[in-house]
Formats: sequence, structure tokens, C-alpha cells
Amino acid sequence: MTKGFWRNLPWPIVGLSPMDGVTDAPMRYISKKYGQPDVIYTEFVSVEGLWRIEKRGETTHKIWNELRFDLSEKPIVAQLFGSDPDSFYNATKIVAKMGFDGIDINMGCPSPGLEKRGGGAGLMRDHGLAHGVIEAVRKGVADMNMEIPVSVKTRIGSIGPDREWWKALAREELPVVAMHGRTFKQLYSGEADWEVLREASKIIKESGAMFLGNGDVKKILIDNKVKLTNERIVDFGSDFDGVLIGRKAIGNPWVMRKDGYEPDITEKLKVVVEHAREFEKNLPGNKFEIMRKHLTWYAHGFEGAGGLRRKLVVSNSADEVMVIIDNFLDIAVN
Ligand SMILES: Cc1cc2nc3c(=O)[nH]c(=O)nc-3n(C[C@H](O)[C@H](O)[C@H](O)COP(=O)(O)O)c2cc1C
Repeated sequence: MTKGFWRNLPWPIVGLSPMDGVTDAPMRYISKKYGQPDVIYTEFVSVEGLWRIEKRGETTHKIWNELRFDLSEKPIVAQLFGSDPDSFYNATKIVAKMGFDGIDINMGCPSPGLEKRGGGAGLMRDHGLAHGVIEAVRKGVADMNMEIPVSVKTRIGSIGPDREWWKALAREELPVVAMHGRTFKQLYSGEADWEVLREASKIIKESGAMFLGNGDVKKILIDNKVKLTNERIVDFGSDFDGVLIGRKAIGNPWVMRKDGYEPDITEKLKVVVEHAREFEKNLPGNKFEIMRKHLTWYAHGFEGAGGLRRKLVVSNSADEVMVIIDNFLDIAVN
């Protein structure tokens, strides 16, 4: 088993979870700079799409934006999705060349279309296919004469917690398994079940894999515990090697900090301007509307945030964002 960079990460590991349409290059750059996560994942990228687009020589296709990264983001893991082992093999050879530290296979995405075709969460139903996909990615890496660790991110099961799935994953001798404490059926409803994650972790860690819990993490506490959105506190104990944080890191990279640091409103809003500038620099040609949702996510939890959001949501450039933020801070701070 290739453990690669995973072996050298500090305990507990805090990572930025992959989020399609959210963890783009500017967001990842800002997340790393201010949240200092130990590891970052890209948005998931379609293996069929990637291979087809590379074959056609479409070097300006937007799929390449999803895989752009700044060296400061390292270690960074490319996440792939699909259901066809041959496409995984071909796509792996493409991303292996791009300098990623790890390759992760999505086995948890609940998109109904993808699940039906056997990809994402659908791979939890077909252990044979899941095995074939893992082998295909490993072969892709080996055929490039490289040693890149191949990991899996999944859910606790399809319909309910699924021990057979956890055992199947343990047999794959993976360096790392990240698991979201909800089932496919639940989508994002209810709560992530950290008791079930603890059970799954015991089985998976026996194989030598590291285990990252995921779902509803709201804060990293300085004594190596995490607080969930329902205010529950989970002790990492020996069961968790770390966590991935998704939604709570949107507009709040500091949530990934292990030292309890929280920015004041001035620092937070200056980062909004920096994020907008990174967007213009790193994704030139992309409509600024894509950036607007990120801007509004920062404007929460302080007096006047609602009014600020209403202004940010109609902004058209980083310069405009700067004027809006400067005006707001003039009034708020003076
Ligand atoms: C908008 C959005 C997009 C997501 N895209 C992906 C993805 O591309 N790959 C993946 O493995 N998980 C994806 N997820 C799931 C998250 O990585 C994470 O597992 C889930 O949100 C639970 O963690 P959280 O409660 O910290 O957000 C996505 C979640 C959201 C909200």
C-alpha cells in the first residue's frame, strides 16, 4: 500500500472536503492560506469527461479549471468520479502527470443519475465494481511509474449503515478512507452519525488504513475534539485520524484551524476582497456571478451582515467588492 504524503501529516488531520462548484482554485487557495488545513481535495472530476476532453485536445475546456491548483495548496488530492474502470485508468494517467499528491475515488456522491449508473454512491452497492475501479486507478499510477496514494471517500452505507461495505473497503488495503456519517438515502438530511462512524473506523483501521470522519463538523476544539452542528462534541480518541470539513468551511476558512484562532470582522472582510481578486486572477474569463455566492457566504454572523450580503450579491468585480467592503468597515468600525 502506498501511503505517500498521508504518512507525514500531523495528528489529528484536518482536511478541506471536496465540494463540487465550491472548492475551485481561488477558494482552495484562500482556504489553505487562512484555514491551514493539512490536506485539500479538489472538486470531483468526471473520469469519462476528462479522458474525452484530453483525447480531443481541448486544452481550454473548463474541466481543466477544476484541476488547477497553486503549489501553496499542497498536499492536494484530485478526486475522480465515474463508474467505468477503463475510464478511471485513463483519467488517472492524466491527473498523475499534473503533480497531485494523492488521487481519491468518489464512492459517496448521492446524485441520483450518477448513483443509478453505478458511480459515486452507486459503488457502495457493487463491491466487485468498486474493487475494479480501485485496481484501475492503482494500475494507472503504476503504469506512469509513479507512487501516488489512492484513497476513497464514501458514506456509511446505501440504505442503512453497511458493515459489509466497511469490510469490503478494509480488504482493499487503502492508505486512507474518508467517510461521511450519512447514508446515500439520507442525502444531506438528518444528522451525520458519529457513533456509526466510530464503528466503521474500527473495522477499517484494522486493515492499516487511516480513517477520516466527516459530516456536520462545526469547529475544531484545541483539545483534539470536534464540535458538531448539533453542539455535540466528539473525541477523536484512537478511532479517528482526523476529519474533513465541508460546508462550515465555506466563507469561513478559519473553521479548519486547530489553534482556535478566529478573525475579527475587519480581517474577515479583507479576505473577501482577496478572494474576489484571486478569482479574477485565477479564473479569468469566468463570469463574476460564480464568485457572488462565495462573497455572501462570508457575510454571516455579525451586525449588518444581511445588508452587506444584498450589496455583495449584485457586485460585478473585485474592485466593486473592495468599495462595498471599505464602506461597510468605515461605518461598522468607526
Ligand atoms: C455543494 C456540495 C458539493 C459537494 N461535492 C462533493 C464532491 O465533489 N465530492 C465529494 O466527495 N463530496 C462532495 N460533497 C460532500 C462533502 O464533501 C461532505 O462529505 C459533506 O458535505 C458532509 O460534510 P460537511 O457536513 O462538513 O459539509 C459536496 C457537498 C456539498 C454541500
